[in-house]
Amino acid sequence: MRLTEKVHNYLEEHLQPGDLAIDATAGNGHDCLKIAQLIAPNGRLIAVDRQCAAITASRHRLSTHKLQHLCEWIEGDHGEALQALGQRYPGQASAIVFNLGYLPGGDKSIQTEVATTQTALKACTALLKPSGILLVTAYRGHPGGMAEAEAVAQWMHAYTGLVQCHEPEKNAESTPPILWVAKALELDPNESSAAPDNRLPPGEK
Ligand SMILES: C[S@@+](CC[C@H](N)C(=O)[O-])C[C@H]1O[C@@H](n2cnc3c(N)ncnc32)[C@H](O)[C@@H]1O
Repeated sequence: MRLTEKVHNYLEEHLQPGDLAIDATAGNGHDCLKIAQLIAPNGRLIAVDRQCAAITASRHRLSTHKLQHLCEWIEGDHGEALQALGQRYPGQASAIVFNLGYLPGGDKSIQTEVATTQTALKACTALLKPSGILLVTAYRGHPGGMAEAEAVAQWMHAYTGLVQCHEPEKNAESTPPILWVAKALELDPNESSAAPDNRLPPGEK
């Protein structure tokens, strides 16, 4: 099974109508569409991409399925966007999805980068609701892709909520992508904070 299908299977397991979900790399809108279908008719999808072409493509995909009204579009960097969203929706996101790299069929020089990806991942800890799911797919075959995947791996292994890593076996021709699945920790019922410090990896408090 392709990792993109696995991501959609996880989304099916975790998302319900009415949920709030975030696509941190909207791209051509395949994940946006899946999310919108699952949270309809009254959920909220926030889709971020720093490229106008990606926002246009994703918006078009949702429009053709009459689901565009569920989505708020943010054209910009996901590090900054998710930090701001953490103030608006603390502890409220049921799922956050990252599909790192560049826009397929688009400008390959515009791709996700280690520093902003790390900022965005850190912001997720304040956004996810208890048991909310974080899905990150990284591609390791293009320049910069391996370094970014290693940075995500490091972050994920420090994050106490990591539950699964899907890493298909390498073959002679290519290095396959890798998918991490993490969950926000369940809150202690005696705690009132929506985003406790213990969700953060060591050194990030
Ligand atoms: C692999 S594509 C995403 C594909 C998408 N998940 C889909 O279903 O079609 C990666 C996207 O990340 C976007 N991107 C790159 N750097 C970004 C950043 N700092 N913030 C937000 N989006 C970024 C690119 O513009 C590109 O559209």
